[in-house]
Amino acid sequence: MNMSLNTEIYASGQEPLYRDEWCIRETGHQEEDHQKNESLFALGNGYIGMRGNLEEGYHGASGSSVIGNYLNGFYDTEPIVYPEGAYGYPDQNHAMLNVPDAKAILLLVEGELFHLHTGMVLKSERILDMQSGMLYRHVKWESPAGHQVRITTRRLVSLEHKHLAAVEYEVTALNFSGGLSWISLMNPVAAGPEGSSDPRVGARRSEPSLLLEDSGFREDGLMYWMRHRTRRTRFALVTAMSHSLEVPGGEAPVQYSDAGQLGIRLDFRLEAGQSGKLTKFIAYHTSRDYPEEELLKLSREILESAGHGGFGSLAGEQRQALDYFWGKADIEIVGDPEMQQGVRFNAFGLLQSTGRDGMTNIAAKGLTGEGYEGHYFWDTEMYTLPFFTYTLPEIGRKLLEFRYRTLDKARERAAVMSQRGALYPWRTIAGEENSAYFPAGTAQVHINADICYGLQQYVLATGDETFLAEMGAEILFETSRFWVDLGHYNPARGGAFCIDAVTGPDEYTAIVNNNAYTNLMVQEQLRFACRTAERLRSNYPDHYERLKRKIGLLESEIADWKRAGESMYVPKDEGLGIYAQDDTFLLKKKWDFEGTPENNYPLLLHYHPLVIYRHQVLKQADLVMALFLLGDRFTMEEKVRNYRYYEPLTTHDSSLSPCIHSIVASEIGEAEEAYRYFRRTVRMDLDDVNKNAKDGLHTAAMAGAWMAVVQGFGGMRMYGDGVLSFTPALPAGWNSLRFRVAKEGRLLEVFISHEEVAYSLVEGEALRIRHGGQEVEVLPERGVRLTRNAL
Ligand code: BGC
Repeated sequence: MNMSLNTEIYASGQEPLYRDEWCIRETGHQEEDHQKNESLFALGNGYIGMRGNLEEGYHGASGSSVIGNYLNGFYDTEPIVYPEGAYGYPDQNHAMLNVPDAKAILLLVEGELFHLHTGMVLKSERILDMQSGMLYRHVKWESPAGHQVRITTRRLVSLEHKHLAAVEYEVTALNFSGGLSWISLMNPVAAGPEGSSDPRVGARRSEPSLLLEDSGFREDGLMYWMRHRTRRTRFALVTAMSHSLEVPGGEAPVQYSDAGQLGIRLDFRLEAGQSGKLTKFIAYHTSRDYPEEELLKLSREILESAGHGGFGSLAGEQRQALDYFWGKADIEIVGDPEMQQGVRFNAFGLLQSTGRDGMTNIAAKGLTGEGYEGHYFWDTEMYTLPFFTYTLPEIGRKLLEFRYRTLDKARERAAVMSQRGALYPWRTIAGEENSAYFPAGTAQVHINADICYGLQQYVLATGDETFLAEMGAEILFETSRFWVDLGHYNPARGGAFCIDAVTGPDEYTAIVNNNAYTNLMVQEQLRFACRTAERLRSNYPDHYERLKRKIGLLESEIADWKRAGESMYVPKDEGLGIYAQDDTFLLKKKWDFEGTPENNYPLLLHYHPLVIYRHQVLKQADLVMALFLLGDRFTMEEKVRNYRYYEPLTTHDSSLSPCIHSIVASEIGEAEEAYRYFRRTVRMDLDDVNKNAKDGLHTAAMAGAWMAVVQGFGGMRMYGDGVLSFTPALPAGWNSLRFRVAKEGRLLEVFISHEEVAYSLVEGEALRIRHGGQEVEVLPERGVRLTRNAL
């Protein structure tokens, strides 16, 4: 299997041309890559996600498949059984469900079933094309009896129609004339991945979650549907499929059922050299979006309208949607095709996995696999949100709306935790806390401050103060209440405001007092909350009064936020001249890296948590993350000293870590190190760096790749004054870098080469930015070019 770049341009017969910087290509088929490639070739539209399973399946003696079809935010619950429980532990786990598999299509060639494990595979290739938003497949196969066929499929999950996906399947008889059949299936229960003790994979369900209630055919036999109900959440789901046929001579469709597989069988005849084409349209609708009684009607409507337009029309819309996307979000790297391919793959993956209806979000593995059970984490605000805030802010807003919609549940959670205000869950689907291991779950209260940081960046980048007035402020104020109630003025720390018994981002250190990252981020949040109160009081007085009444907010509370923020305790070690990760981190023994065999990483799979907690060892960026996010609060010297201390102690056992190190390394002038960390982030899934891409893609790292380019090599920052600043540091091996950034209705293009840096406006009015600390104004008609001498 070859995932690397291929300069030879692929062109055969009627098939389109592919440019590898826009494509991921698989040639041949190897068992060891199979499940990983099912993740890499997953398609999605933020709602539906389909793993890149082969149409005919891949189960058998010599191989296995993880069939996966997911709907964002569609879940069932399962009781969490704690042999030794305690008050406030979540008692239900929510898990994203694997819904019926409707993309399956079997092909019979003169009675013999097409499968990669039988007959002879003369050619097998799959191409994910990120410009057209489609997965292409080209196969030439000879059946055991010697009949040769060419198979070409195109598959898409529509970016224009939330509930729709389609597969086009063309077969050509090459050396024979004879009978063929398609069996188009809808498999009600897909086999999930095998159980595992790896916490990143997630718990297995004890019993099936989807119960079949009803099914039926349309009169012409070409449409088939099933209605399921989730066992505990009682949601209804209608999965429907319809078909269009272009065959020279075909029989009427017949119903098909075999060993629990249900569908439609279509028999037809081809003369040698002739082709037949089947287009299958697939729709999913659930009662999370619509009244239950409308689901079937909506399914029929969308399938009929898709059938009228045909696959070509969906493909045209898909292309348009992607042209728009790439016009805002593309990054162009000249001189490093592997990285170019990687950054595009990652941006495309984010678009495919991110919910944009305000009711759903982005799971840790997106819609590509069941790792982390479809849960949403802080990954959203700290990684994915910046990508959307600065490229497609309308999607950024939807991600934040999700937090607003689940604010009541965060209020309930704070009450369970005996606190005022709101505490957002560490992992969730519908707003409830889902983390069963509280030391690396509920204890990560920093998620409250992370959400508010994401909110602040969004508001400053877009100028969308209406969102702040209507929704954001309520999140901000309720979570600020939480902090003031959680912390305390500690006489033992000279009366400074301390926050105890929390876990910071580094999950290899748990339940500590005064995690520096948390305290700094809370301080930032409390300042933002005070500024927001002031701003609403003067600019949105009605909203402000209404909100105060709604949540019973007193002016004295705002004074409390101010005082807590000003008195925040941040642990430091004067001797080492660095920030301490927390009150006790620096007192611990350092981890014995030299004595740790390479295959004992990730440590979490080889050591009891307590063994890890007793050492100075990090899973991921913690203080280093603060150096980046709150960069205006540290001097360059501090950044260097802190980075140099913590970096060697960091295992990067979390995929969220390398990108942050790349950004900070870039800022402090460690160019080679920055590139090394960048490479690891960008190719995390394509090269399967963490060896678990089969469980789904690492969406935070995908977003981290964008961050490492724009905020690392581009050096883009935006602090409290809302001015975008850039300090570019182009990797030595690159010729140039070009990207676009959305800012308050404008689209700024940044071009960086070794000779010059140029800023120009693609859309919108004049914009004041900072370049290397100096203010420059970019005018619509006239960009700014700074040559090397001026840099
Ligand atoms: C990381 C967390 C992250 C989670 C989901 C864990 O391994 O330590 O920071 O939120 O994965 O991606």
